[in-house]
Amino acid sequence: AQTVTRNDDGVVTVGGIDVKTLAEQFGTPGYFLDEADFRARARAWRTAFGADADVFYAGKAFLSRAVVRWLHEEGLNLDVCTGGELTTALAGGMPADRIAFHGNNKSIDEITRAIEAGVGRIVLDSFQEIVRVAHIASSLGKRQRVQIRITVGVEAHTHEFIATAHEDQKFGIPLAGGQAAEAVRRALQLDGLELIGIHSHIGSQIFDMSGFEVAAHRVVGLLKDIRDEHGVELPEIDLGGGLGIAYTSDDDPREPHEIAKALTEIVSRECESARLRTPRISVEPGRAIVGPTAFTLYEVGTIKPLDGLRTYVSVDGGMSDNIRTALYDAEYSVALVSRTSEAEPMLVRVVGKHCESGDIVVRDAFLPADLAPGDLIAVPATGAYCRSMASNYNHALRPPVVAVRDGEARVIVRRETEDDLLRLDVG
Ligand code: LLP
Repeated sequence: AQTVTRNDDGVVTVGGIDVKTLAEQFGTPGYFLDEADFRARARAWRTAFGADADVFYAGKAFLSRAVVRWLHEEGLNLDVCTGGELTTALAGGMPADRIAFHGNNKSIDEITRAIEAGVGRIVLDSFQEIVRVAHIASSLGKRQRVQIRITVGVEAHTHEFIATAHEDQKFGIPLAGGQAAEAVRRALQLDGLELIGIHSHIGSQIFDMSGFEVAAHRVVGLLKDIRDEHGVELPEIDLGGGLGIAYTSDDDPREPHEIAKALTEIVSRECESARLRTPRISVEPGRAIVGPTAFTLYEVGTIKPLDGLRTYVSVDGGMSDNIRTALYDAEYSVALVSRTSEAEPMLVRVVGKHCESGDIVVRDAFLPADLAPGDLIAVPATGAYCRSMASNYNHALRPPVVAVRDGEARVIVRRETEDDLLRLDVG
């Protein structure tokens, strides 16, 4: 986790800089990301999986050119799922052959750009796409490396996984009813495609490995059927992302080396019993790498005690910089970081400045009773799916992402300005 320390004045420091200085220099709200922590997590995943596996960072969690450079330097690959993410990945210097292109409805333009750029793999998500990608690749005189994304009948979220009603979703081709096998049959017949493997992604914020176990079992079962029917052993399987992080002290995430050990053991065991060569494994962690590395810094604006209920603490951001609480009922913690306080804790709800009562950042938390306007509070673990899902609701200006390292802070994504808003408004 980030090393959070307080200086002699009780002000929290990150990467060697105190938050009051950060707020003065970069304003609030802002996302402050610990670069050393990001690199350490990326490296831990890379090391844990070793030379016989690939780690694709899921760019949807948070992507910028600086992040792409760090990933490249730390030896990771990158998963993108739109033309915009692809452009950022290439602009950040990620070699195209280390990029995987995902998505359930990639446009013809996106597919063309990806193939022309030379992406390492396209993950095919439907029967139409199998034909579409094959056709575009052939017309460009290329043979595109592809995986087929299947749904294995497992959906995992946090502590439990559900083995029913999982195929009722837009992603992937169902294993059930022989559909995945039929997709493989078609892909193998098309000259424009080189089918390198099968892909499965079972969910998000997962702590329990049993969902992956079932998924690996079923993916290997398909590999075996493919071998029996076509005489080919596909060389790769991708088990997706979804590994959980600690948003609050109740969450107990697994370390990358435990995850790597568990996944490689499951796959080798399943392959051994199916008498298959063990394929090269890849995984796609997003949240687990970037989530814990950043926090959002807010300034307290108003404090409204509601007798017998709770105290509403309004900050200068809200659902435009963190939609996860409103959207998923996500849990976050919060801390007073611009000073220490000996005051009694009071039950608060941290809310934003948007015109909506669901605009909640932290549903239930305790902050000192002497909290006052102007205090700075921080919400940790906002590195994933906060800036990347930020909006301009109420014409809010999306906050900057500032990378802090060795006592130096550097803007990697700047704050939006009102001019940016007006630039898009061409009417
Ligand atoms: N691979 C695929 C194919 C995915 O669909 C996803 C996430 C990932 C990898 C990365 O999953 P991660 O390791 O970051 O959990 N916006 C939501 C999460 C949606 C994730 C969608 N796909 C959130 O804020 O929790």
